[in-house]
Amino acid sequence: MNRIICLLLMWYAFIPFANAGETDARTVIELSPAHRALVLNEMRQFLSGLQQITAALSRDDMDAVTQAARGLGIAMTRDVPADLKQALPQGFRKLGHQVHSQFDQIALDAESLGDSDHALSQLGNTLTQCVACHNSYQIRLVNQ
Ligand code: HEC
Repeated sequence: MNRIICLLLMWYAFIPFANAGETDARTVIELSPAHRALVLNEMRQFLSGLQQITAALSRDDMDAVTQAARGLGIAMTRDVPADLKQALPQGFRKLGHQVHSQFDQIALDAESLGDSDHALSQLGNTLTQCVACHNSYQIRLVNQ
């Protein structure tokens, strides 16, 4: 009896999520747990790098902006396993590549120009791509 009540409670608890899922029209990318962990780890690196860049911009510390932006550049993708690349749709890879290249450009410009206004406007453009990708794709787990 207790188990039935427990199951019912769990079911009710998940209704809002189930309904939210129905209205989520973003393209589904199916990934294994390990691949999903790699992608989400990269995402958290993006967020933490952004935090560093914003803090550095507020101090007008262009060396720190350069360093943090470079950390999010194309070099970050070097260790992405080939089978994960294959599991990602082309549009996703293209957007990801653009974002990494833009961080490399932010680093180059921050180093050579030392202009925080310019870096901030580049960062704004880059964030548009983060938003675009998040509006287009979601990750679902498959067991492999
Ligand atoms: C190429 C596509 C793409 C780009 C570009 C992208 N993301 Fe993501 N991000 C995703 C997807 C897909 C998820 C998982 C969303 C889901 O399943 O609902 C995600 C998840 C995240 C998460 C959650 C991580 C977690 O542990 O749950 C953070 C934080 C994040 N992204 C930050 C960023 C930031 C900041 C940028 C830009 C600098 C960025 N992302 C650029 C596709 C992208």
